Amino acid sequence: MRYLVISDIHSNWEALEAVLAEAGGLYDRIVCCGDLAGYGPDPNRVIDWARANLSAVIRGNHDRVCCGLDDLESFNPVAQAASRWTMEQLTPENLAWLRALEQGPLPVDGFRLIHGSPLDEDEYVMSLMDARNVFGYLEGQVGFFGHTHMQGGFSYVDRRYGYAAQLNSFDRAQRNRIVVRLDPEGLYLINPGSVGQPRDGDARAGWAIYDSDAQEVRLHRTPYDWNTTCDKVIAAGLPEVLGTRLTQGR
Ligand SMILES: [Fe+2]
Repeated sequence: MRYLVISDIHSNWEALEAVLAEAGGLYDRIVCCGDLAGYGPDPNRVIDWARANLSAVIRGNHDRVCCGLDDLESFNPVAQAASRWTMEQLTPENLAWLRALEQGPLPVDGFRLIHGSPLDEDEYVMSLMDARNVFGYLEGQVGFFGHTHMQGGFSYVDRRYGYAAQLNSFDRAQRNRIVVRLDPEGLYLINPGSVGQPRDGDARAGWAIYDSDAQEVRLHRTPYDWNTTCDKVIAAGLPEVLGTRLTQGR
């Protein structure tokens, strides 16, 4: 089975549409590691699409806040403003759908969907040290996670911790063909990157294809029309930085 693995869409329709166009024909099912809502200008469009097209999905911290399951206190003022705006925009059906999203880790076939870490949906797995601390809680061979908006991954193979994919070691052109071959005895925590708000210095939308038969994960980056999304952010009255950061991938 081939899975399109996506995460952190954050109400960015243009990025999602571009990913779906480029990934067409490469997958059988679509799964998502959470944060569909928050930050961006198209929450209903993204969630309408998600309800119809995702085979499996878990909630992210922004999904929790935008549907009122959690308060705004843990967020900075910009994220708070975007969450309030999103809550006002969401249709009753989409609010109810967000409220009903499952908490990760969620077993899907042979792998896991995780928002933050296998231990805590709000924990950021940024470094190899962070990954080492939580590998013991990963049930199954592969966990896909999001939350950091940083594409890449970590491995535990032959009793050694390492990078399954380290974005810094690839240049811009190479980043569209990063292949992670999975050792059947190894453990993997892989972040497909953020579709809608990349923060790893590359503005292109991040996504992954996991082929469970070939035992392989391919990481991809797709350019999209971030200037249109930026204009929509500003037209919606959302904080301007939520638009400009998209053009920089920060
Ligand atoms: Fe996020």
